[in-house]
Amino acid sequence: MIAHAPVLPTYTRLDVTFVDGDGSWLYDDAGNRYLDLFAGIAVVGLGHRHPAPTAAAHTQLDRLWHVSNLYWTTPMQELAAKLSDRFGGASSFFCNSGAEAVEAALKWARKATGRTEIVALDGSFHGRTFGALSVTGQPAKRAAFEPLVPGARFGLEHVGPETAAILLEPVQGEGGVRPLTLEFLAEARSLADEYGALLVFDEVQTGVGRSGSFFAWQELGVKPDAVTLAKGLANGLPIGALLVADDSPTGFEPGDHASTFGGNPVACAAACAVVDTVDDELLAHVREVSRYLRDGLAELGEVRGLGLLLAVELDRPAAPIVEAALANGLVIGSAGEHILRLTPPLTLSLDEAELALALLEGALA
Ligand SMILES: Cc1ncc(COP(=O)(O)O)c(C=O)c1O
Repeated sequence: MIAHAPVLPTYTRLDVTFVDGDGSWLYDDAGNRYLDLFAGIAVVGLGHRHPAPTAAAHTQLDRLWHVSNLYWTTPMQELAAKLSDRFGGASSFFCNSGAEAVEAALKWARKATGRTEIVALDGSFHGRTFGALSVTGQPAKRAAFEPLVPGARFGLEHVGPETAAILLEPVQGEGGVRPLTLEFLAEARSLADEYGALLVFDEVQTGVGRSGSFFAWQELGVKPDAVTLAKGLANGLPIGALLVADDSPTGFEPGDHASTFGGNPVACAAACAVVDTVDDELLAHVREVSRYLRDGLAELGEVRGLGLLLAVELDRPAAPIVEAALANGLVIGSAGEHILRLTPPLTLSLDEAELALALLEGALA
């Protein structure tokens, strides 16, 4: 076991080295097994080593890894078509992460409208690159890196004729798992329409089935002009996407934006398999397991969230509970000082959910 490695200290890592995964289970280098209710921070949506994306990635690995975006590849074309179908007509820009998808959205909105201001929300999280950080409504994360990109405003009251886009997460994830109300989303939609601004939903965390629908906007009933996706899209291979609705301005022309690795054939092949697997049956399962977990978690504190993006507000700090749960064989996360965050694989069984609740109660005892 390598206890420490020469990496820059941007993370507080727990003292465990995972070496294998299978479904909802992780195994460490000492052979201990853990029930994974975090899924790599809402990434491994189909569980570890799910056969569909694993087989698709293997097949593509043996055929072609990379050609650049100067040419077409079949997995990228197929993924764009599948995402367009799911959205109800949209064109994609592919990149490698959530922050990159947000960067693409910010540049697209400025180019498409000729305006410079982005209205985001207090408590939001959109990533750590300069553009994404600039529209992240958490001053403590921004302070050390200012000056940031100008033009960010926080709060719908700032929407006006200079607004290029309103950017929001349907459920604020990193900011404490706080779902926005339907009324709030409807107000954002009508303000965007009134001022000719674009409405962009950051679905990096809520997308690809986690909400109980493929996109959280389908669950909530307010359709945006564009959506960002990343985390769950390729079940753990790096990928990000900006989807722009067919009835919105395309904004971009050749040369406006790019990504060398964006649309990588292996990641896109895995993502195609993920999109096919997130079908009506799995989405119904997400809603059922969500109800079951919510009922059990309600014993522990206020429960918030949507689908399998859930949180419990505790009466004590969350970090020691995350550590105690790990020692008990349960992987969970936090989202703020007193908030436990659960983002299990969408494939978590009801039996596994029952076991997770028992392990969590043990950690809290
Ligand atoms: C809503 C949202 N947007 C953007 C990001 C940034 O994604 P990445 O870490 O892949 O850059 C995250 C990451 O947690 C997120 O939750």
